[in-house]
Amino acid sequence: MKKKILITGGAGFIGSHVIRLFVNKYPEYQIVNLDTLTYAGNLENLKDIDSKPNYTFVKGDITNLEFVTELFKDFQFDGVLHLAAESHVDRSISDPLAFITTNIVGTVNLLNAAKEIWKDNMEDKRFYHISTDEVYGSLGEIGKFLETTPYDPRSPYSASKASSDHLVRAYFHTYNMPVVLSNCSNNYGSNQFPEKLIPLVINNIKNSKPLPIYGKGENVRDWLFVEDHALAIDMIYHKGKTGETYNIGGNNEWTNIDLVRKLCDIMDKKLNQEIGTSQKLITFVKDRAGHDLRYAIDATKIKNELGWEPSIQFEEGFEQTIDWYLENTNWLENILSGDYEKYYEQQYEKR
Ligand code: NAD
Ligand code: DAU
Repeated sequence: MKKKILITGGAGFIGSHVIRLFVNKYPEYQIVNLDTLTYAGNLENLKDIDSKPNYTFVKGDITNLEFVTELFKDFQFDGVLHLAAESHVDRSISDPLAFITTNIVGTVNLLNAAKEIWKDNMEDKRFYHISTDEVYGSLGEIGKFLETTPYDPRSPYSASKASSDHLVRAYFHTYNMPVVLSNCSNNYGSNQFPEKLIPLVINNIKNSKPLPIYGKGENVRDWLFVEDHALAIDMIYHKGKTGETYNIGGNNEWTNIDLVRKLCDIMDKKLNQEIGTSQKLITFVKDRAGHDLRYAIDATKIKNELGWEPSIQFEEGFEQTIDWYLENTNWLENILSGDYEKYYEQQYEKR
């Protein structure tokens, strides 16, 4: 019988890349994508694989315990890769409760449902929580986050992810749940919702709109190509040691202002504009409240223990990403018009 793997949040940015990788690479698995389709969930991200026989989409909310419990009973999952979350820091500042409910309560619901169906035999089972480097807080000018760095979350988003990480580890210690975790740095690539810095800037340049830079643009992020993150997730799911945490990063630090200037220059070339045209759109705006200064990941553990390191150089990944947004104007337009939210009705309800 095929192993049944639940991937939550598969209609989102990273989840869609993980689903595509797993559906194509593992025909021996039945992959179930559980996603409630918030504003960030977009089934168009998966239209190339959504009729594959080893893929099933289920629309549902991880905060609904009764629904989650029934789903686990029906499918008897062998493994869970949990990515569903409220993921945008700015939204967590204006509406913290949604983050507490989805990221904390939702995670506990999944843990409880898995514990219930696995209680007599945890062998060969796995609960993988996909988390963020933001749980470690903010770095000064030097140093990097290690797996042993104490938690110091500073936004409602990172506090909710830290809380869910702690709960996942608590279920390992208390109930012997076969868990594994990873904490990753900023991802970039195709299918990212255009509220996040890189797709927002690409879209605004295309439409000659201001490019908002929070504060002075001196904050530093460590950027990783999303497909490399998906490969790391695959490796950790299959080879990671139970109870362990792995940091994943791109070894690729940029200040926001340098990153945006680079984007501007590449976009000028692609749009056949004079170099410097897009940089004129840069607008310094009020800083994000509690804006973490710098994130940087030390990914030595995953390299030494599992043999993973980023395979795509930034120049290549960045170019590929920009080309994707320029070529997939429909994807962006459907988001901006709201049409992407009709994909489920149009493609699934008639099935
Ligand atoms: P995203 O916002 O693009 O996607 C989240 C998905 O979860 C969406 O499809 C949404 O519909 C779904 N979802 C939200 N609430 C749900 C609920 N209650 N029930 C079911 N589904 C729900 O997020 P992303 O950027 O792809 O991030 C995925 C995961 O990776 C998150 O857990 C995030 O914390 C983590 N992460 C993200 C990054 C990054 O750079 N984007 C880096 C490190 C870790
Ligand atoms: O580090 C991992 C995290 O990366 C993930 O856990 C989060 O889910 C993901 O959203 C991302 O968080 P950031 O807050 O770093 O990403 P964002 O794209 O929102 O912002 C990147 C940087 O750019 C950050 O320093 C804030 C700044 N910024 C962002 C926006 C949207 C701006 O200066 N202007 C903007 O308009």
